[in-house]
Amino acid sequence: MGRCLDPPLPREAGGDRLSAVEELPVEPHPDRVRLRFLQIGEDRAIKEARVPAGTTIFDAASWNGVAIDSTCGGHGTCKKCKVKVIAGNAPISTVDPRAFSPEELRNGWRLACRAATQEDLTIEVPPLQTRPKAALAGVGRHVILRPAVQKRYVELTEPTLEDQLSDLERLLAAMDDVEPRVSLDVVRSLGRTLRESNWQVTAVLADDVLIDVEPGDTSSSRHAIAFDLGTTTVVATLLDLETGQPKAVRSMLNAQQPFGADVISRISATMMDETALDTLRLRAHETLQQLTDEVCEEGGVDPREVYEVVVTGNVTMIQLALGIDPEPLSMAPFTIAARRLPEARAADFGLRVHERAPAVLFPALGAYVGPDIVAGILATGLTLDRRVRLFIDVGTNSEIVLGSSAKALATAAPAGPAFEAAQIRCGMRAAEGAIEGVKIVDGEVQLTVIGDVEPVGLCGSGLVDAVAELVSAGMLDNSGRFVLDASERFAKIGEENVFYLTDDVYLSQRDVRELQFAKASIATGWTILCKELGIEPEEVSQVLLGGSFGSYLTAASAVKIGLVPRLPLTRIVAAGNVAGEGAKIAALSVTERAAANAVLEEVEYVELSGRTDFNDLFIDQLGFPA
Ligand code: FES
Repeated sequence: MGRCLDPPLPREAGGDRLSAVEELPVEPHPDRVRLRFLQIGEDRAIKEARVPAGTTIFDAASWNGVAIDSTCGGHGTCKKCKVKVIAGNAPISTVDPRAFSPEELRNGWRLACRAATQEDLTIEVPPLQTRPKAALAGVGRHVILRPAVQKRYVELTEPTLEDQLSDLERLLAAMDDVEPRVSLDVVRSLGRTLRESNWQVTAVLADDVLIDVEPGDTSSSRHAIAFDLGTTTVVATLLDLETGQPKAVRSMLNAQQPFGADVISRISATMMDETALDTLRLRAHETLQQLTDEVCEEGGVDPREVYEVVVTGNVTMIQLALGIDPEPLSMAPFTIAARRLPEARAADFGLRVHERAPAVLFPALGAYVGPDIVAGILATGLTLDRRVRLFIDVGTNSEIVLGSSAKALATAAPAGPAFEAAQIRCGMRAAEGAIEGVKIVDGEVQLTVIGDVEPVGLCGSGLVDAVAELVSAGMLDNSGRFVLDASERFAKIGEENVFYLTDDVYLSQRDVRELQFAKASIATGWTILCKELGIEPEEVSQVLLGGSFGSYLTAASAVKIGLVPRLPLTRIVAAGNVAGEGAKIAALSVTERAAANAVLEEVEYVELSGRTDFNDLFIDQLGFPA
C-alpha cells in the first residue's frame, strides 16, 4: 500500500473549511479508487488508474508512468510534487499548509506524495520542471528514476566565534530539501572530513538516512547492485543510478550447489548437520561477493561507491543467506520467518561494498511464493495492468500469478524436478551439449544443441519440445503412451520403452510421465486460479513465462503439452529473468519499491494443498490436449 503517513483529513464537500477538517468523520472508503490524471491546460485524460484506496497520488502516478516532479522521492521534504485535485476530495496533510497558501489549498492543490486517496479523483498534473530520467526494465516497464540513493554536494562556510553551529547542523542546514536520519558512524568522521576537504563535501543519502559524507564533489558517482539469488544461478547487475543503465551483469552457479540441487535438499542439510546452516550462509555470501568483485571490476567502479544492494530470491535462499533457520519452510504448515524482514544491510549478506549500504529485500506472500515472485510481479507490472495476465515461473516449484490491477491471485504448484531435468534419464542442466530444441519433420528428428556441439543430454526446454513434437507426430498418444509402431527410433532399455533422439540421448516412457505430472501440477494451479477469479482460461490476455527455465520454452510446445492455456501463440511471451529485473527496478525507484511492498496487500495467496477439487482437476490435466 502506498505511504499514508498523515492521518486522513478530508476536505468538507463543497466548502473547503480548513479549520473544520479535523471534526469530520473519516468515511469508509472502497477497496479501490479510480484516478484520472490530466495534463494541466489540456482537458483530456492522460492516464486512468485504479489503485487500492490509501495509495498516495504520487505512488499511483508513478506506478502508472505519470511523471510528477520530485527530488526527495516521495518523502514529503522537497515540496515539488504539487498537483491540483479538480474533482473529488483529497485530504489535506500536515505538510500541505507549508507548501500552499490557504487559497491554493481551497483550490485543491496538494503535495501528491502526502495525499492518500480515499475516493475517485481527477488530478491535474503540472508539466515537469525537471526532466526525469527513465530506464526501461522488466517486461517493457518504463521506470522513472527515483533511486533511494541520493547525493548532495555542498560548500559550507567555516564556523567562527559568531557562527558556532555544530558540524552536523551546518551540513543539514545546507541541504534544505531533505531531513535525513543520521547514523552515529557518520558523525564520528564528520568533523575531520569537513576540515580536510575545505568544507566542500558530498552527503550520501540512502532513502532517509545519511550514510556518509565524502570529501569533495562525488555527486556524479552512485551505484547499486541488484542480485537475483537463485537456487541454481545467481545473477548480479551493477547499476549506474545516475543514468539507470546497467554497467555490468554477471552470473554464476550458487556455491551452495554441493548441498543439493533444490531447496528441499539444502533445508535437509541444515536439519542433519547443525553446522550446515552457517556453511550455507557463507557459501551464499561467497557467491554474492565474487559477483560483486566481478561486476565492479568490469564496470570500473570502486565497491565503496555501491551504496545500496537489492537482493531477491526464493524464501529459502534469502533465509539461508541471512542465517535464518529454514526448517519450518519444509513441512506443513510451511511457516516463513517473516513476510517482511526487518531492515538489513549489505554487510548482512557478507558484502564488502559501502560499509553502511542498506540491503533492500522484497516481501514474501508465503513459503513458496517468495520475494523472487514479488520481484517478478513488479517486473511484469501484472498488478498495474487492466488486462488479465498469467505469469508462471516454471521450475521445481512453480509459482503462478493470475490477475490484473483489479484483482490478482497467486499460488505455488509443486512440479517436481522434471523441468530441471534432474529426474530425466538423459537430463542435464541447460549448459553446453544440452539439447534445447527438438523438431520432428517427416519423421526426421532435428535438434538444437547449446554451443553447437555433440549433444550429450536433454535440458528442460528440449524435454518439453521433444514431448510436444512426439504428440504432434502421432508418436505419443494423448494419454502419454508411446505409439511404438510409429517410428524405428523406439527401443527398449531393460523393461522400459525409450525414444532415441541421437545414438546416446533418449527419452524414456518414465521421463514422459515425469513431465506429465509436472505440467499437470502447473495447469491445475492456473485452472484453480481461473476458477477463483471467475474467468475461463481462454480469457487470459497474455501468458508470461518467466524464470531461467520458463523463458526458454517455445510457446507452441507449451500450448501443445497443455502447460499453458490454449491461446494464440502471440499471447504467450517469454518474460526473462523477471526476479532479477524486479530487483533492478527496486534499485532504480523508491516508488516502484513501494509498489512491490503493496503486493502483499494486492495479491491474494491461494493454497492448493487443502482443496477438495485438486485431485480431480489434476487428473483431468494429466493427458495432452487433443
Ligand atoms: S515532497 Fe518531495 S515528492 Fe512530495
